[in-house]
Amino acid sequence: MGRLDGKVSIITGAARGQGETTARLFASEGSKVVLTDLLEAEGETVAADIGAATCFVKHDVTSEADWRRVVETAVERFGRLDILVNNAGIMQRTPVVDCSVEEFRGVLDVNLVGPFIGMKIAAPVMRLTGGGAIVNVSSIQGIVGRAGTPGYTASKFGLRGLTKTTALELGTFGIRVNSIHPGGVDTPLIRDAVAGIEMTTETLDAAHAHLPVPRCGRPEDIAPTSLFLASDEAGYITGAELVIDGGMTCGYTGRESR
Ligand SMILES: NC(=O)c1ccc[n+]([C@@H]2O[C@H](COP(=O)([O-])OP(=O)(O)OC[C@H]3O[C@@H](n4cnc5c(N)ncnc54)[C@H](O)[C@@H]3O)[C@@H](O)[C@H]2O)c1
Repeated sequence: MGRLDGKVSIITGAARGQGETTARLFASEGSKVVLTDLLEAEGETVAADIGAATCFVKHDVTSEADWRRVVETAVERFGRLDILVNNAGIMQRTPVVDCSVEEFRGVLDVNLVGPFIGMKIAAPVMRLTGGGAIVNVSSIQGIVGRAGTPGYTASKFGLRGLTKTTALELGTFGIRVNSIHPGGVDTPLIRDAVAGIEMTTETLDAAHAHLPVPRCGRPEDIAPTSLFLASDEAGYITGAELVIDGGMTCGYTGRESR
């Protein structure tokens, strides 16, 4: 018996990285999954590989019309909606004084306004079948700041706050809303973050060797937490934030500058 048997999920940003791994895990636990992303070819390939219990929808999370189409697809294809994982996101690395207003707004639009629209449109549909669960993928940059990433940090702090407010509003409809806060995770998002610097598993692990868990995270480290929060096992957990960072935010090991 799967931990998500009978449930229907939408996972954004599921063409690669953590979203892809989460979609594969959810499907393996019995959920029907609507994968969405801007990356159409990659998303179609992942959905086809997972199999018949999935479909892919091209989706820009900043578009309200796209969100309506995604939620409609879940209901038309699979009959209901139980789970939303707001995973799509973009990184940004420009210090405050050099960051244009357009760049700052652009990151907020994807990482914060996108999940807002998704919850606004998905929640009334979840309510029709008695409730559901929403997992918002924030970051440790929703817990602590980081120089050089003003838009990203603001968006991830914002998503953590939005999670609390939405949890308070939707509890009476049986909908739980939680945020997760990954540390460094080996995906294209950090591999491509610094132009001209090629990152590998080895260099990323070396950059995280000072942590209590002395390596970079993998998508497989993150997806099980979303699974737990989306499942009925977490039925009494809402408005919570769960850090998955190898201990990065718990303090200093003394090995930071080796
Ligand atoms: N990798 C890390 O170190 C790390 C750490 C903490 C949090 N996160 C968060 O985890 C989430 C997943 O990121 P990842 O690490 O798998 O990176 P990734 O770049 O591999 O995946 C992000 C996906 O989101 C999609 N996307 C971007 N903009 C979109 C839009 N407007 N509409 C729809 N899809 C869009 C991308 O095409 C991509 O497939 C993000 O929210 C990210 O901020 C990542």
